[in-house]
Amino acid sequence: MISALIPAAGSGERLGMGAKALLELNGRTLLERSIDAFLGIADEIIVALPEAHLTMPFKHARVVAGGTTRQTSVQNLLEAAQGDVVLIHDAARPFLPKAVIQRVLEGVATHGAATAALPMADTLVVEANEQWQSLLDRVHIRAIQTPQGFRRDLLLNAHHQAQLEQVAATDDAGLIARLGLPVALCLGDERLFKVTRAGDWALATAFAAVWDEG
Ligand code: CTP
Ligand code: MG
Repeated sequence: MISALIPAAGSGERLGMGAKALLELNGRTLLERSIDAFLGIADEIIVALPEAHLTMPFKHARVVAGGTTRQTSVQNLLEAAQGDVVLIHDAARPFLPKAVIQRVLEGVATHGAATAALPMADTLVVEANEQWQSLLDRVHIRAIQTPQGFRRDLLLNAHHQAQLEQVAATDDAGLIARLGLPVALCLGDERLFKVTRAGDWALATAFAAVWDEG
């Protein structure tokens, strides 16, 4: 059984337009867009929302209360989940191709943990004193996205360990990797960009119509 868990309890401070997951793009919220991507793939879908929105009804998802950090929101979601496999996906990434979800599920089947990851197009350098210090080998660099998938027991243990050691993370695969366990890197997608700042919002607004046509 597969559980899709969607942290959507953030306050969207950097964007400054209120609860980000509940903003609409071309008539549908970021959160609804993420929920819909899992239909036909996940056996249950659970979303973590801010306290003020807990009564909001969803046709295809259950609601739990989020926490003060993304990590605690994910912990609350994990406690509510039943699946032997869990997929964690940030509502802040509204354009989620089903093919990416399938690749992450394949990674979980073989390695126990997997994340969407995107190769970089730009040349990447290390900076010091605003000067070019050294070149990074782009071939070995990936930008980490969501969804991330895990055997539920593995992720529960990783969160438990992180809590004991007071490790804070903005990402779940990192909690597995820090224990020395394998995390498969599956090909992500450029359209899966995270809506974080005003520029991302402008891009998402323009792109939503294109995505909805396809
Ligand atoms: N999130 C959450 N609970 C929190 C904080 C974040 O469920 N206490 C979720 C957000 O809703 C989002 C995802 O984690 O879907 C990624 O977080 P981010 O992009 O940082 O969103 P916000 O925390 O809302 O934005 P900001 O950091 O700018 O306030
Ligand atoms: Mg945040």
